[in-house]
Formats: sequence, structure tokens, C-alpha cells
Amino acid sequence: RRLLGRIGGLAGVSALSPTFLLAGCDNETTAGSNLPASAHRDVEQGPFDVDFRLSAQSGTVPILPGTPSEVWYYRGALAEGPPDTLASIGESYPGPLIRLRRGQRVRARLENRLPEDTTVHWHGLHVPPNVDGQPRLPIKPGESTTVAFDVDDRAGLYWYHPHPHGPNGGRVGFQSYAGLAGPLIIEDETERALDLPGGEQEMVLVLQDRSFAGDNELTFVGGMGSMMRGFLGNRVLVNGRPPETREIGTQPYRLRILNGSNARIYKLAWSDGRPVTVIGTGGGLLAAPQRYPYVTLAPAQRVDLWVDLSEARVGEQLALVSDQYLSGMMGGMGGMGGSRLPAGARFELLPLRVTHRAHDGQPLPEVLDSGLKTPPVTPDTPIRTFDLTMKMMRGFAINGRQFEGTTVADDEVVTLGDTEIWEFVNASMMPHPMHVHGLQFAVIERKRIDRQRGWSELEAGLVDTGQHDTVLVLPGERVRIALTFTDFDGLYLYHCHNMEHEDNGMMRYYRVRA
Ligand code: C2O
Ligand code: CU
Ligand code: CU
Repeated sequence: RRLLGRIGGLAGVSALSPTFLLAGCDNETTAGSNLPASAHRDVEQGPFDVDFRLSAQSGTVPILPGTPSEVWYYRGALAEGPPDTLASIGESYPGPLIRLRRGQRVRARLENRLPEDTTVHWHGLHVPPNVDGQPRLPIKPGESTTVAFDVDDRAGLYWYHPHPHGPNGGRVGFQSYAGLAGPLIIEDETERALDLPGGEQEMVLVLQDRSFAGDNELTFVGGMGSMMRGFLGNRVLVNGRPPETREIGTQPYRLRILNGSNARIYKLAWSDGRPVTVIGTGGGLLAAPQRYPYVTLAPAQRVDLWVDLSEARVGEQLALVSDQYLSGMMGGMGGMGGSRLPAGARFELLPLRVTHRAHDGQPLPEVLDSGLKTPPVTPDTPIRTFDLTMKMMRGFAINGRQFEGTTVADDEVVTLGDTEIWEFVNASMMPHPMHVHGLQFAVIERKRIDRQRGWSELEAGLVDTGQHDTVLVLPGERVRIALTFTDFDGLYLYHCHNMEHEDNGMMRYYRVRA
């Protein structure tokens, strides 16, 4: 097994700055000034409701007991905006929780203090192409860029992470693994009117699996070894730390969970077998709460859960767990990527202990968002098919093609304002969480067209209702989504969000034509 990539200790990386006001990122480029002419608002113009900077840099943080680990991470600093815009959910690993409100005009200065190119992608946000952090707009080491955008998304949990892709492949997997990823919450009026659990009753949980060498050094297996299955670590971290018991009261809680892992799919359940109540997905609140026996959460997906503990006894314990399912022919065992989480095992992500009585017990609303719309699909809506297949020794492909920079084929051009159905047909033996940039879509059909693939253990937990930017397509399935291309023309990406699949070419640009 190869251990690749010492993360820190590289020449030319600035030492940690004790203050957030960093000098030396002077080669400023401004993405805002490059906005396509059709951008529907002139967002370069302030005033800005929120103005912050994010610096991608290296450092050490405590993760496991003992020696701190070298990581790459985002350090945030707020220049303007509500004080709760940036909050730490760990020791800056993962990145700060960014909290925005719909309607805000945001400016962010993005600084690269790493020894290689990076970008900052706002995953799930409806932003113009030049603000989207795409690989064609890298931020070079020592440089910075400024982006400006209007927050125009429904309330929900989104996230941000790097998206560089060079001649030797993508670096999304490595850079996110090293620590460059963070959660982003958007709030809006619809959500506020529901008075959902907030404050200590709202928990944001970023799930990421990692492997460590002897001295608590993060290790990453890239290349061919993990190209097929993606990187699987041998332990799961929650907000950058091993799971820890949280003390809670007898009241409802809202758990907002991001799967920030490179390749691991979670099967989230309650330890006592109670159903999992879902109130939202990656694109915000559902129309109404739904119950599932468990929730299947693929890389890049988010889920918003509600759990009511008002009937619990003080002293009671409960845990959010994940089952290690048998992953088809890969078996979920040791194998190439080195997952040492045993197949069939159940591991705790969020152990809870009821320690006190509390009375903040709002009931779960029966209707969450009565205005939730799906794209207007008619019998005439065009269907665009994407076959997901394996390329011998070269990873996976979409319609036989792999990443070719900004090259867009004829069948990858859509028209601004149109609604289309995209269907993903998975003829490979690996699951693919398919992600489309720049918009949210609806999953309108999931059909099993080949029975022999053996991933059915995940089926009952697929949350297909609501809005999504990433949909899991299991082997042997055909999944149809409906999407509408609004507001911005230009280049966007669509790709598998298994980061090793993506970095090895399972990614393409599509063009929205005005
Ligand atoms: Cu989460 Cu193309 O990204
Ligand atoms: Cu994205
Ligand atoms: Cu994939």
C-alpha cells in the first residue's frame, strides 16, 4: 500500500499567520469583473451585506489524541456582515461554517497560500459561471481572487470545497481530504417562519473518513489504487474529530449532515431502530417531513433530520449510526483502498446522552414548504441520456468521454430558460453520485434496469423527494432528473462526486447557451 502525499512541510508555504489580515496575496484577479454580459444583476457593485475572506493554507490541528496532524484548511475572516456569518465547527478543520441569508449581496476574497493551484467552489449555489470556482479559473499559489454574488438559493445546507484539475488529473480529492472543505448554511423567510430548532438544538455535522499513520499523520491513497472505488479511510471523523458523546435535553433537535467524504456512502440510522425523520435535502426543506428506515447519504449530499427527544428519560442514550453495507463485488473489506471498517459493522457517528429536562418542544410542522415547485415537465420535455461506464484502467466515463477541459460536445449544450430531463444510466459496477453545477433539480424517476448488481441494501434509504444537486445512481439503475437552466449562461460542470472518479476524469463541462 502506498502512502501518498505528506500534506504539509512543503517549501514556499507561508507559516500560519496569527492575525487574519494577511499580506502577500497581491496578484489580485477579480472574477466579478469578468462576469458574462448576460448576468442578470450587476453584482460587482456594492454595497455588500457580507464581505469576508477565506485563506487556503497549511497548518496543524489536533485531530486524534497525541500529536497534532498536518492539514490544509480554510481560515476565514469577516470584514462586513452579521457576526454569526462565520463560525467555527472545529479547529478550522473542516473550514468555518458560513451562514448566509437569501437576498444578501456577498463578496469573498479567496487567497491561495498553498504550494499548488486551488479554487473555491460553492457547491449547490446558483451563482454565475465565473464565481463557481471551476478548474478553468485556478487561483495560483500566492495569489488571490475576489468573487461577488447574490444569495439566491432556498434555505439549506450547502458547502464549499476546491475544484482544481490540472494536466495530471484533478486535485479535488486530495485537497478536500487534506482539510479544504466547509459547510455553508443559507437561511430564508420560509424557514424562519417555521421556527425550527436553533441554537444548541441545531447541530451541523460534517462526515469525513480518514486514515492516519503512526504519528497521527493523515495518509491518502491516490492513483490507480483508489480509482475504482474511491478513497475509503479507516475511521470516520465528525467535524474533524472522532465522534464524541453530546449531552442533550428532552427536546427536539435538528441535525444538518453533510457527507464531505471522498467516496464513502453512509447508511444513517438510529441505534434504537426508530425511523429517521427527514425534513430537508441538499436543496433545502422538503414540502413535508418524510420517514425512512435509514438514509443513504452519498458524497456531497446533505440531509436535514429532525429528532424529538421530549419523551426521553434522563440518562437515556441514543446514537446516530452508520451501517457498513456490503458494497457489491468490492465487498467493503480491506481491498485496494484500505478501508478497515469491517463489512457489516455499525459505527457510531453521534452518540447522544440525555442529561437534563428541557421544555423547548416545538412540534414538528406538518408542512415545511408549501411553495416547493418542481421544474415544469411535460410530455414534450426533451430527454438527454448520459451513460455511466467504465474505461478499462482509466476510471469511469460519461457517454464514453472523460474530462477534456472546457471542450463541450454538441450534446452538452443546453439553452437558457429551458427545462430538460437528464437520465443517468449506470452500466458500471460502482455507484455514482452525479452532481450538476449551478442549479437544483428534482429526481423524477428511479428505475432498476439490471437486477444483478447487488447494491440493493442502499435502496430503501434513498431520499429522492425535494431538491437536489447530487443524486446517487446505483449500479444497474436509470435515474431521471428534471432541471431548468435559469439566469446565467456559460460553462458549468457536471460530474460524479466520488472525488476519485471525478479526479480521474468522470467530469465534463456543459454549456448554457443564451
Ligand atoms: Cu462539490 Cu463540482 O462539486
Ligand atoms: Cu458543485
Ligand atoms: Cu462515480
